[in-house]
Amino acid sequence: MKTNPEKFGATPHQPSLWTRADALKVRADDPTTTQPLVSADFPVLNNDVFIWDTMPLRDLDGNVTSVDGWSVIFTLTADRHPNDPQYLDEDGNYDILRDWNDRHGRAKMYYWFSRTGKNWEFGGRVMAEGVSPTAREWAGTPILLNDRGEVDLYYTAVTPGATIVKVRGRVVTTEHGVSMVGFEKVKPLFEADGNLYQTEAQNAFWGFRDPWPFRDPNDGKLYMLFEGNVAGERGSHKVGEAEIGDVPPGYEDVGNSRFQTACVGIAVARDADGDDWEMLPPLLTAVGVNDQTERPHFVFQDGKYYLFTISHTFTYADGVTGPDGVYGFVADSLFGPYVPLNGSGLVLGNPSSQPFQTYSHYVMPNGLVTSFIDSVPTDETGTQIRVGGTEAPTVGMKIKGLQTFVVAEYDYGYIPPMLDVTLK
Ligand code: FRU
Repeated sequence: MKTNPEKFGATPHQPSLWTRADALKVRADDPTTTQPLVSADFPVLNNDVFIWDTMPLRDLDGNVTSVDGWSVIFTLTADRHPNDPQYLDEDGNYDILRDWNDRHGRAKMYYWFSRTGKNWEFGGRVMAEGVSPTAREWAGTPILLNDRGEVDLYYTAVTPGATIVKVRGRVVTTEHGVSMVGFEKVKPLFEADGNLYQTEAQNAFWGFRDPWPFRDPNDGKLYMLFEGNVAGERGSHKVGEAEIGDVPPGYEDVGNSRFQTACVGIAVARDADGDDWEMLPPLLTAVGVNDQTERPHFVFQDGKYYLFTISHTFTYADGVTGPDGVYGFVADSLFGPYVPLNGSGLVLGNPSSQPFQTYSHYVMPNGLVTSFIDSVPTDETGTQIRVGGTEAPTVGMKIKGLQTFVVAEYDYGYIPPMLDVTLK
């Protein structure tokens, strides 16, 4: 991993680079970095809705937190339309794949609760219709602020635009369940500036989303990770020596990889409450390597910063590839330099026989990795599939120095708390 001083000049830090050489080391189906096969007879959390990105309630240090013994998760959620004429095929059968693929346009934030950290009970929508300013409520992070149950939900308000926002509400518990109250006033925080982070005007396929606020264990300040693309007009990025890295002879041709410009963004709060933010240069860029580094998040372990982010096969640049899954990088200090875990960055990928079985992995500080089921083949050729829209089996992983190892598999959607907060 190298840095590129020319691009960001006299800024507080230089972004670390995920290079093409690093990505050439990615090996699908290495058992230590591959998610066990998900069986096609998986249970479905709820037959009325699809769920995908899963966001456990946590504190600002990253600990997954229950309240009064109740675990809580937030999910991106969309209704299933088995009877809507729009989603029937020529034979009158429900085209679930088309319904599933359309879900992003109607994504809403829902919550679920459980006494056991699995078998989630349906809570409902977090914000009433009309509260969020845009059509789509995209991923983010619910933060439990205190023992009064106050929750800051950071998320992305998308279409029109893409704005990182937050809304404050409260979690209330009874013996019988959990409710989310308040969540009535959405506060816009910031959007891409075109200077550090690419805007929609610069690239219609830009990404700017998935806020993950945290308290730095070393300086105690409030920061936020997010997904971005490096600023600049689409097609104007240079894939030079630094981005290519130390490749073997014959690997210098970068094809059209200048179109892939993902980065992990970071912002710092100017106030204690996290209402006023300043964007800083990205922590990590993947120019010439990949176009999406989604849902970035940290695990703070052994005095190190383990940075995880999810990515896809289809977003890789010409000449490099890897499975859908979660990738990771590690540094000794917040601003890097970051080096790819396992040499390549790949931490937990789908097996090549089931390339879309899971996505949106979230690594928790206890080494457990949650994700959702996308689609699983039901025949040998992979032409028949079963769509998920539900929680995948949780994977147990060990993080050791510069390496990670898959070591266990748990139940579907198993997200146990690391702390319990008794509400006052
Ligand atoms: C990951 C993701 C997020 C985004 C959401 C949109 O699965 O692409 O980056 O917020 O899904 O549905």
